[in-house]
Amino acid sequence: MTSARHVAIIMDGNGRWAKRRLLPRSVGHKRGVEAVRGLLRSLDDTGIEVLTLYAFSSENWKRSEDEVSDLMGLLRIFIARDLDEIVERGLKLKIIGDFSIFPADLVTMIQDAQARSASGTQGTLVVALNYGSQQEIAKAAAAAAAKGEVTVETIAAGLETADLPPLDLLIRTSGEVRLSNFLLWQASYAELYFTDVLWPDFTVDHLKQALAEFSGRERRFGGR
Ligand code: IPE
Ligand code: IPE
Ligand code: MG
Repeated sequence: MTSARHVAIIMDGNGRWAKRRLLPRSVGHKRGVEAVRGLLRSLDDTGIEVLTLYAFSSENWKRSEDEVSDLMGLLRIFIARDLDEIVERGLKLKIIGDFSIFPADLVTMIQDAQARSASGTQGTLVVALNYGSQQEIAKAAAAAAAKGEVTVETIAAGLETADLPPLDLLIRTSGEVRLSNFLLWQASYAELYFTDVLWPDFTVDHLKQALAEFSGRERRFGGR
């Protein structure tokens, strides 16, 4: 039985969750945050060291201004309400993606949140904000080229996840079967798990189901 140290989730389906209930998309996003909260509270039971959540992609700017601003608002509320608990649980918060172009107050909140949780030793919560994997790889490759040595190792060293354990398991909710520009490099040998459950309905039991399936998979890494 192998356990997953690093799990990433593409938290998809908030809009459809709301639509099914004839509610505005913003309610779906709100319930999506509740699902995150629920997972964080039970993370201890899962043995996961690093949980990486895709919260806002570099392509999500294509959505309406209202929806983008709802999502920013929820992020503000999440940091304001949940950071204390994250720190108390000994979790370190790490943001990947270029959040520097977010509204200035939010940038400050995010920087403070990372600083306040920096000494956490019980696990790492990685949140991807304005994250795009192709952009991340291009940047890492450019940095490697500037140093005169473009190899798998030098590119990997320039990725935002360079300090994290390798990705073991990548989960996507809502029935979509694609990566949507998330952790493309890191997923090279990750196990993939797709579920029809919509993100607001996703609980720690669903996570445990994914972990159980993971532990039964045979990982070969090209060998045999
Ligand atoms: C995921 O839910 C949340 C974000 C992408 C921010 P969606 O908003 O993509 O929900 P669907 O895919 O429309 O159901
Ligand atoms: C991926 O979901 C991004 C996040 C979950 C944050 P999307 O809903 O944006 O992906 P597509 O557009 O269906 O590929
Ligand atoms: Mg979606």
